[in-house]
Amino acid sequence: MTIRLGDVAPNFTQESTEGPINFYEFIGDSWAVLFSHPKDFTPVCTTELGYVGKLKPEFVKRNVKVLGLSVDPLSDHTKWVGDIEETQGHQFNFPLLADADRSVSNLYDMIHPNASDTLTVRSVFVIDPNKKVRLIITYPASTGRNFDEILRVIDSLQLTDGYKVATPVNWKDGEDVIIVPALSDEEAKERFPKGWVAHKPYLRVTPQPNK
Ligand code: BEZ
Repeated sequence: MTIRLGDVAPNFTQESTEGPINFYEFIGDSWAVLFSHPKDFTPVCTTELGYVGKLKPEFVKRNVKVLGLSVDPLSDHTKWVGDIEETQGHQFNFPLLADADRSVSNLYDMIHPNASDTLTVRSVFVIDPNKKVRLIITYPASTGRNFDEILRVIDSLQLTDGYKVATPVNWKDGEDVIIVPALSDEEAKERFPKGWVAHKPYLRVTPQPNK
């Protein structure tokens, strides 16, 4: 099954470093980031998982739970966690699915056979509290992801949901945003009391409304 933006994220139950996880129960009323890495005891993955541990307070601030995955067994995960903490200097503070039977990897199409028959690629799914898929990105095994970018997209998605704004190229939290074209000027006057600059009728820029 192909998962696309706007689809309901499929549920699953799988073993993890924090015990069995039912995905929907895990998400609860939060947002979630589900991400796969190719293999335990590999260098790029070690740096990624250490960095996600460092970013945990940023995810918590945004009401986001993070959940990693690889097809390695739980026994490998538990041994590897020590290496991650030792080399990356951050506590390992989020669960890692042990998807040895590949049930979740297959459900989320995380194994791309022309890249590797056996290992998951670096997939990322951002899922909202309604269990809808809001972001999908896929990186190759040799490129570590930019998890700051994932936080940036979550900031943008949460702003869109709360304030009917979109975010321009390279936007960062605190910078001006764009009033969605679907909103009339009359509606915009009520929603954006700070006003806006209309570079074109469809390009209306306003200060970030929650700052
Ligand atoms: C890594 O994490 O370093 C890695 C894993 C699989 C293939 C290539 C690199």
